[in-house]
Amino acid sequence: MGNMTVAQVITLKPSEKGRFRGVYAVADEQVKLDKNGKRYWILSLMDQTGSMEIRAWSSCEWLDQREVPEGVRLEPEEVPPLRGLSIGVIGTVREFNKALQPTADRIYLVSQEKYPPYDFVQRSPYPQEDLEERFNLLVGSCGDEVRGFLESVFQGPLRRDFFSYPAAVGNHHAYASGLLEHTVSVAEAAAALCGCYRVDRDVVVGGALLHDLGKLRAYRMSPLPEATLEGTVLDHIAMGYCMFEELADRYGLRDVLRLHLGHIILSHHGKKEFGSPVLPSTPEALIVSAADELDFQVFCCREGISALRDGQVISDFHKALQRRVWSGEISDSLGGEGGA
Ligand SMILES: [Fe+2]
Ligand SMILES: [Fe+2]
Repeated sequence: MGNMTVAQVITLKPSEKGRFRGVYAVADEQVKLDKNGKRYWILSLMDQTGSMEIRAWSSCEWLDQREVPEGVRLEPEEVPPLRGLSIGVIGTVREFNKALQPTADRIYLVSQEKYPPYDFVQRSPYPQEDLEERFNLLVGSCGDEVRGFLESVFQGPLRRDFFSYPAAVGNHHAYASGLLEHTVSVAEAAAALCGCYRVDRDVVVGGALLHDLGKLRAYRMSPLPEATLEGTVLDHIAMGYCMFEELADRYGLRDVLRLHLGHIILSHHGKKEFGSPVLPSTPEALIVSAADELDFQVFCCREGISALRDGQVISDFHKALQRRVWSGEISDSLGGEGGA
């Protein structure tokens, strides 16, 4: 049995359910006690192809191979915190509640030098060079003033981080280069809408490229995507506006442009209950906010469709979207419980 990627494990058909093995990074762990008071784990595992949740019940064997290649057996109480580590897993995929549930039979603690966790971080499905090229084209499409400012912002370590950070740690684009993928999609969608309305295209594109700047402080890769303390208690909109003000000061950005771009950053969530302190008050801000929401919804819709099981054309209820999504195919039954 060769190693299997996460994408291979989660797309196993019920008829193929069986054993799997592989090395994955632990994105999250919950340690719980079963009804006999024994420890078990719910682990969120990832590799470059995706993420999956597995159970490690109290019967799971733990082998520490970090120092001794043949491994030292660990009791469940001796298992260290796993979050952020790469681990080896041999498991079985079982059917549970009509879904396939991967369960670990044996977990290996492996050398972090030999298997650096960063190598297992899920990445944007789009090639990095394509995303960077699309980003550069958007910047290059702006007039001198906005282009000059954007070039002064997106350089050095900020550019490096912006090109590799996630756009979230849950919900959408929660993987390496997710921020770049999301930003490029929002800016391209917003730029396309400029052809339909009489608006300042440079403000729209500049605002779209800057709208989630605060995520550079709200998240970090360590090596897996996670929220920072600042991100949790201040959030990316307020932090993004502060960063923008500093950068605009340093560049000497003209007041009117500064107000328009600052307004887009603060208003881009579209509603106060979604975290924006002000509502979009210009056509340019309305366009960026609509493109941001659209990109989030399209992402969730695609995610819902990709999780469809064999023969299913309507998804289970998608919490973030507050609806079921449709594959676009037609079948005799809706394929989900209680759907009609
Ligand atoms: Fe945002
Ligand atoms: Fe966004």
